[in-house]
Amino acid sequence: MTEALKLTDLAKSFPVGRGFLGGARGAVKAVHPITLSVRKGETLGIVGESGCGKSTLARMLVGLLKPTSGTIEIEGEAFATADPAAFGRRIQYVFQDPISSLNPRKTIRQIMEAPLKRLHNMPAEARKERIAEIFDSVNLREEFLDRYPHEFSGGQAQRIGIARALAASARILILDEPVSALDVSVQAQVLNLLADLRAAFDLTYLFISHDLAVVEAVSDRIAVLYFGSVVELGPAEEVFATPRHPYTRLLADSAPVVGRPLAAPEAAGTDLPDPLNPPPGCAFAGRCPHATDRCRSEVPRLEPIGDHARVACFHPLPA
Ligand SMILES: Nc1ncnc2c1ncn2[C@@H]1O[C@H](COP(=O)(O)OP(=O)(O)O)[C@@H](O)[C@H]1O
Ligand code: SF4
Ligand SMILES: [Mg+2]
Repeated sequence: MTEALKLTDLAKSFPVGRGFLGGARGAVKAVHPITLSVRKGETLGIVGESGCGKSTLARMLVGLLKPTSGTIEIEGEAFATADPAAFGRRIQYVFQDPISSLNPRKTIRQIMEAPLKRLHNMPAEARKERIAEIFDSVNLREEFLDRYPHEFSGGQAQRIGIARALAASARILILDEPVSALDVSVQAQVLNLLADLRAAFDLTYLFISHDLAVVEAVSDRIAVLYFGSVVELGPAEEVFATPRHPYTRLLADSAPVVGRPLAAPEAAGTDLPDPLNPPPGCAFAGRCPHATDRCRSEVPRLEPIGDHARVACFHPLPA
């Protein structure tokens, strides 16, 4: 098995507030230690509610944010510090909001050229060729290159965002809610394009979304994130069909319908714990119908269950 990405105990806390002498008053643990591998050519879906740490995880993986602890290995090479240029040759980020993620004062050609100059020192003629090739692969016309981001629709702008990520020649893409801002009909086009590109360029994807149906459709495996921790990990066709973690069950019960945002049923309450003052045991205990005393005092670890899955729960649901 070739691993594209290997995270070991990767964690991030943000110091917050100012205490009496100017020191931090506390820390938000946005990502608790995560250990996870992504196989070459795989799409790993990451689902979780708003605020569960998806973007913080993504930003560490592209070198925009320095981890508090833990290690990142990309294609077998360890990356110790946050360095967007070093990461950028291997792994690229595709943002949720395509238009605002593109610099409004630059033409699309200038936007596309930046990574080729910065990451690869590519001469002008080679850049031109490379950009034409990439534009063709995302089904965009070359004449678009001399326009500005605001002249494009959301779907076209997201193709440009994907093209920019591909221009860097990275083989791993972090797709952070890549279709959430698009109309449902356009979503399907962009998802099909991503599938074609993955096959054509042998890409590996981390596909982050709060939309269960989309994640289920595009992923090989799915990791369910709750309050900064992976609580369940397994094959895409099993995770929501036979959830083993009570939180995954809750998500699955909120009916995966295309385009429907991830929302927990009212009765279960929708509050995440206070990140400045996390509970001592399982973070889901306050919402869990199966919680016991042990759950309220001890943190469950992600352990293998069944043939392919892993779950962080003292009382996993039957398969
Ligand atoms: N720069 C920051 N400073 C303090 N807290 C932050 C910062 N960025 C994110 N957080 C907190 O970390 C948690 C996870 O945020 P985020 O990764 O953006 O979640 P998601 O992308 O899943 O919505 C949230 O509680 C958020 O408020
Ligand atoms: S560890 Fe306990 S509280 Fe947490 S999800 Fe499992 S049963 Fe529920
Ligand atoms: Mg986010």
